[in-house]
Amino acid sequence: MSTCPTRNQNLVAWVEEITKLCEPDQVYWCDGSQEEYDRLCQEMVESGTFTRLNEKKRPNSYLSRSDVRDVARVEDRTFICSERQEDAGPTNNWKDPSEMRATLKGLFRGCMKGRTLYVIPFSMGPLGSPIAHIGVELTDSPYVVVNMRIMTRMGKKVLDVLGDTGEFVPCLHSVGMPLAEGQKDVAWPCNPDNRYIVHFPETREIWSFGSGYGGNALLGKKCFALRIASVMARDEGWMAEHMMILGIQAPGSTEKKYVAAAFPSACGKTNFAMIIPPAGYEGWKASTIGDDIAWIKPGPDGTLRAINPEAGYFGVAPGTSEFTNPVAMKTCERDTIFTNVALTDDGDVWWEGMSKEPPAHLIDWTGQDWTPGCGRPAAHPNARFTSPAANNPEIDPEWENPEGVPISAFIFGGRVSHNFPLVYQSNDWSHGVYLAATMGSEATAAADNQKGLRRDPMAMLPFCGYNMADYWSHWLKMGKSVPVEKLPKIFRVNWFRRDENGRFIWPGFGDNLRPLEWMLGRCEGTAGAADSPIGAMPRRQDLRWDGLDFDPAVYTKLMSIEKDVALSEVEDQSTYFARFGEKMPGELLDQQAALAKRLGALSGPWTLPSED
Ligand code: GTP
Ligand code: SPV
Ligand code: MN
Repeated sequence: MSTCPTRNQNLVAWVEEITKLCEPDQVYWCDGSQEEYDRLCQEMVESGTFTRLNEKKRPNSYLSRSDVRDVARVEDRTFICSERQEDAGPTNNWKDPSEMRATLKGLFRGCMKGRTLYVIPFSMGPLGSPIAHIGVELTDSPYVVVNMRIMTRMGKKVLDVLGDTGEFVPCLHSVGMPLAEGQKDVAWPCNPDNRYIVHFPETREIWSFGSGYGGNALLGKKCFALRIASVMARDEGWMAEHMMILGIQAPGSTEKKYVAAAFPSACGKTNFAMIIPPAGYEGWKASTIGDDIAWIKPGPDGTLRAINPEAGYFGVAPGTSEFTNPVAMKTCERDTIFTNVALTDDGDVWWEGMSKEPPAHLIDWTGQDWTPGCGRPAAHPNARFTSPAANNPEIDPEWENPEGVPISAFIFGGRVSHNFPLVYQSNDWSHGVYLAATMGSEATAAADNQKGLRRDPMAMLPFCGYNMADYWSHWLKMGKSVPVEKLPKIFRVNWFRRDENGRFIWPGFGDNLRPLEWMLGRCEGTAGAADSPIGAMPRRQDLRWDGLDFDPAVYTKLMSIEKDVALSEVEDQSTYFARFGEKMPGELLDQQAALAKRLGALSGPWTLPSED
């Protein structure tokens, strides 16, 4: 629609103001229809942004190759511009909001020349849900429009809910590449030298410039649903978390349990959200609520209730296969936009890990010929699929329940190759917050320029819109706002420990249901454990091993604690905590001291008691 379809004066005025600033050739209001989606995709096929995939092999699907410099989130170009620097905290990039506004105004002036400004009204969460919120993204990227149509509820129906006076989070995006009169566009316009992903938490605004990729450009996702929403959640007494949500039902049980798990980017949320019960777990049912983000509010019955604010998956392609994640393979079988995967000779897609034997010839993610052994990956390690959640064959029937689902357990896990056990339980909420706050994880391809092991508290390091120490205080406070018996139990896990040869020790994927069953048993009070200095750990006999041949000696090793390593880790936390100064919650320092004491009392390594 080119005529304005709303009487919401705030929205109309904002669109006018941005149109004046950015000087697009035209303004287009997205209605969210299938016809509109198909038309924009076709236009992108004609402009070279999209390749239509083989209709028989991959119906209604497209491949897009990004600029090679624009392949992941850019954390060093992501800013939290609160009025006071201490409100952004030591883990966020901060700039004075008025200075940043001046910089951005300069960049956005005339930046949409030769392009269309698309207005995308979207709802994060089921339309009209008390947990949902509305945003409007203005963008000059049709790639963003079609991805947002999969990832959110979008278009006219959102304007209807917004009404004349409803509130929305304004999200402004530009690829930052105006076109001069008659200038031909490139397939993936962007401005890699001038990228700014900016958040103004007090005024709840997002300005993003120069990137067309994922979390930098689909502003409903990380920018709104985590960075801005975390601030809203702090102010309003709820939680916005980088968590997947999974439903699980044991055979013979009439009750389904829901758990929410926070793993850093590219550390297994989508896989865990789509888990297939392994051999030995016949009759178990797993179902997906969400794979990346959870919004959690205390419900009328005192439980914490979670929704998935998204409507699609922006999932990591490499490593996804019929063996590791058949549910994701089914989900992206059709209606999917692939970004930076390889193209097969018969018009389908391929990526590392999809099959043991790669095809004999491919066009790689940069558009070059590729053959096995040529020394380059065929797909970018952060290649993604954008698929509608409705395509997920194991979607949970409650996934659009506006009231959300009750959460029994919070699970926190990083990617740690060494010295970190498979699973353990916190002693209580405050200890659990401490375990989550001190979480570490290794670099992945989901963000540019990430190195080595870093602390990634609650998997929120790149996504918390305010001071991380205040965020921990908020977590501690949430624990006191819910009756203890209704509070989710908190666990730590690590699927990624490696042996001397660099191989993963734990089989992972479906077998992660084994520790999960134990966690649920702990919530019920039915599963046993040994008390260790770091928390309660499953003894071998506390896990179900049916269908898995796993060396008991390796299990014991996987669950052992090296006193010196653990103590030096606890010491290292002091430097980390010191960065937060006065804001550091005393409760977490107390937890750290208590752990140091428990470890100090050990005479050597801690191992599980032998089986009786
Ligand atoms: P984001 O979308 O970036 O937030 O990532 P995510 O947390 O959803 O990660 P995802 O499930 O996409 O997994 C990332 C990579 O880890 C993929 O290549 C998976 O194949 C791999 N992976 C997931 N679960 C496991 C596991 O249990 N063990 C091992 N070894 N690898 C896993
Ligand atoms: C992540 O990096 O955690 C993602 C992908 O889920 S992005 O949308 O780029 O943030
Ligand atoms: Mn993510």
